[in-house]
Amino acid sequence: MERPAGFAAKPEHISLFAGVTGKYPELFSILQESQRATGAATMKPLSRILSLLTRANAATAKPAALPRPGHVAFVGAGPGDAGLLTVKALNALQSADVVIHDRLVSAEILALAGRGTALIDVGKQGFGTSTAQSEINALIVHHAARGSQVVRLKGGDPSVFGRLDEEIDACDAAGIGWHVVPGITAASASAAAIGQSLTKRGRNSSLRLLTGHDMQGFADHDWRALARPGEVAAIYMGKASARFVQGRLIMHGADRATPVTLVENASRPDQRILATTLERLPADLAAWQASGPALTLFGLAPRDAATALTEIEQKQELA
Ligand SMILES: C[S@@+](CC[C@H](N)C(=O)[O-])C[C@H]1O[C@@H](n2cnc3c(N)ncnc32)[C@H](O)[C@@H]1O
Repeated sequence: MERPAGFAAKPEHISLFAGVTGKYPELFSILQESQRATGAATMKPLSRILSLLTRANAATAKPAALPRPGHVAFVGAGPGDAGLLTVKALNALQSADVVIHDRLVSAEILALAGRGTALIDVGKQGFGTSTAQSEINALIVHHAARGSQVVRLKGGDPSVFGRLDEEIDACDAAGIGWHVVPGITAASASAAAIGQSLTKRGRNSSLRLLTGHDMQGFADHDWRALARPGEVAAIYMGKASARFVQGRLIMHGADRATPVTLVENASRPDQRILATTLERLPADLAAWQASGPALTLFGLAPRDAATALTEIEQKQELA
């Protein structure tokens, strides 16, 4: 294309022509058509306009959007009450292509997933799994590798007895990006249910999160340290190991009258509270017949008599 000496497009021309071509795309083709019909030699002004338009189009053309790579968000669903979900957790749920969730995640929370989101129940129950951990890892990687935005939804906080590291390792090994959205753990929800602090000045300056049993069986801990007066522990998956824990603590000098409180289905409509002592723990627990997830708060009693009422007593009061 012939160009007069000294001809150069100024930035203001570029933006002006970009605006023109954006609004009137047919102008560009009309000019091209005229130039072809009449010959470039006799159409210097047209050539200049076309040259400017071509550069303007190139300067403003948006690069084609790249497909989003697959990603995994490890999200804490909290203890069950949807009101205890974080805003970040809700956003992740609503923008996910696939949600892979545990058994403890409530139906109320799953209902918040976006329309068209695939929900996959991997039904983990404590340390016993109905889907093997290796299969869960493979499922997460499979969906993310296909480009899906995956939410791995776990009850409570994903970093508390949630086998988070194994799933992160699987993502790392497959080169898949991930991030963690923390959630409210059962210990926090249970303490709230009984109106107590997990730590208190002058009582306990540390808090232990224990599991009643691990993959090897009943889990061993520093029982001597826990048996000291004023100590507090939140015991996860502690129902089956109650007698073992009681025996170990008493053996290491714990006061048999130490308060112990169990909170079943903390934060959910069917929440129940059992206030007992270390001495009476196994017997009261057996009579209580808890079938839902329950957290044992060792060293804490409900703040007042009202919260210590059993479910039956609460029903009688409401009647
Ligand atoms: C595998 S652990 C998972 C803990 C979870 N990541 C958390 O942060 O709460 C499962 C145990 O958590 C406790 N748990 C979970 N949700 C609970 C709830 N709503 N009420 C009481 N205990 C709960 C129970 O001890 C249950 O056996």
